Amino acid sequence: MVVIAVTGKGGTGKTAVAALLVKFISEITSNVLAVDADPDSNLPDALGVEVDKTLGDVRELFQVTRESLGTVDKESWLEGKIFEVIHEFDNFDLLVMGRPEGEGCYCFVNNLLRGILKKFMRHYDYVIVDCEAGLEHFSRKTIESADYIIVVTDTSRKGLKTAKKIRELAKELNLKFKEIFLVGNKIVGDEAKEIIKDFAKKENFVLLDLLPYDEKVVELDLKGEPIINLPEDSEFAKKVRFIAEVLTRWGS
Ligand SMILES: Nc1ncnc2c1ncn2[C@@H]1O[C@H](COP(=O)(O)OP(=O)(O)OP(=O)(O)O)[C@@H](O)[C@H]1O
Ligand SMILES: [Mg+2]
Repeated sequence: MVVIAVTGKGGTGKTAVAALLVKFISEITSNVLAVDADPDSNLPDALGVEVDKTLGDVRELFQVTRESLGTVDKESWLEGKIFEVIHEFDNFDLLVMGRPEGEGCYCFVNNLLRGILKKFMRHYDYVIVDCEAGLEHFSRKTIESADYIIVVTDTSRKGLKTAKKIRELAKELNLKFKEIFLVGNKIVGDEAKEIIKDFAKKENFVLLDLLPYDEKVVELDLKGEPIINLPEDSEFAKKVRFIAEVLTRWGS
């Protein structure tokens, strides 16, 4: 199992990149789990599918049902429920984490869920996680077990600042990832390319690729169509396909 977490500042293109990685990696290997770890979930839309239940729903249900479960084994109960929130589609499975916790103590259920998810994830060749914007995933421990962290940035000061912070935190928290990559997105012109290249070198990222600003992405968005419908000749799609190929060969 290889876990790939896609992170970065809000609006940089994390979900677009994650959705196309799901599409292209699942063409290479059939055993892919997509995880939407953004409470403001939009990976299902990007993948063109619908999901009615989230892991957050299971967590809340457990909290209100816990007392009445009596001697029922809590782990088995939760395992059964997880099956209901892992949605199976033709080329991939999808788990939506959903809303963050409400008030009260969630330690017990969260610990159980963490263990169960780890076990479930082992069945997949690739797990691709679309993280929420910023740094929140560090406190939620979403990318704790990522093998590869992909930080998506545009050339904005804020985008680069967030990327830098993610790089620093990953190191500070001693996360056991194998590689941390940078992907530049919505890049227009040579100057922008140089800015990202210099930044990657300075901050110790492996620069995966520079993705262009792509009118075809904008067009799809306007029509409300999923990004995985991008035509083969879209420069953005071509480059993410290349990234998928690089990732599946990385380290081998
Ligand atoms: N290369 C690109 N060219 C043009 N538009 C793009 C490109 N990449 C992403 N976009 C557009 O930018 C917007 C943000 O993209 P996306 O939702 O993938 O970003 P995000 O980082 O997941 O955002 P959020 O932080 O809100 O989850 C969308 O409208 C998307 O269509
Ligand atoms: Mg997103």
